[in-house]
Amino acid sequence: MKSVIFDLDGVIVSTDDLHFQAWKSMADRNGIPFDRQINNLLRGVSRAESLEIILRKSEKSYSEQQKQELMQYKNDIYVKLLDNLKHSDILPGVVELINRLKKAGVKIAIGSSSKNTRKILQKIGLETVFDAIADGTEIQHSKPDPEVFLVAARKLETKPENCVVVEDAVAGIEAAKAGNMTAIAIGDAASSSLADYRVNTMMQIAEILNLE
Ligand code: BG6
Ligand code: MG
Repeated sequence: MKSVIFDLDGVIVSTDDLHFQAWKSMADRNGIPFDRQINNLLRGVSRAESLEIILRKSEKSYSEQQKQELMQYKNDIYVKLLDNLKHSDILPGVVELINRLKKAGVKIAIGSSSKNTRKILQKIGLETVFDAIADGTEIQHSKPDPEVFLVAARKLETKPENCVVVEDAVAGIEAAKAGNMTAIAIGDAASSSLADYRVNTMMQIAEILNLE
């Protein structure tokens, strides 16, 4: 029996725009050019690595202490924005797919780089739905490293080769494959040549998994 590990941001709920608003505020305040194209590069990437990508456009160099402050500034705004998230922000087809997986006895987990994972799941009312949650607070290396998915598999007490990962980020597909898992790409991740399957809707995942 396969288990399914879902990425959170961009798969279960769309937080892209909230990340954008928060990073944009930090960048504007510090005179750093930042736009949606750069924001797209941050998908699946940890907060610290996201900041490094943003700072490539900066003329100034920042100390470790200053970087911590910039991340704190961004996260404070982001967390405030998360307060407005609600159940209806769950992406189309997610609840139905989860229900079908549960009915079929398939174990499900979250594998996310975000340290705000638990808050997001709580805001959208899915905090008790998953059999396991692995997030950014538990890992040393973020995607494309497989660590977060391997933690999820361990918590599900299943082997990596029995896990199917659903991802919207190229870095996430790389992480799934590096972890010896099956990788299903949705959205942007479809551009990854490593993906085993590419889907446009959650229901296509039910078909791939041969759910009743
Ligand atoms: C990922 C997002 O899920 O989490 C990234 O796709 C984000 O864009 C990363 O940078 C870290 O999130 P957080 O909530 O820990 O800042
Ligand atoms: Mg994502």
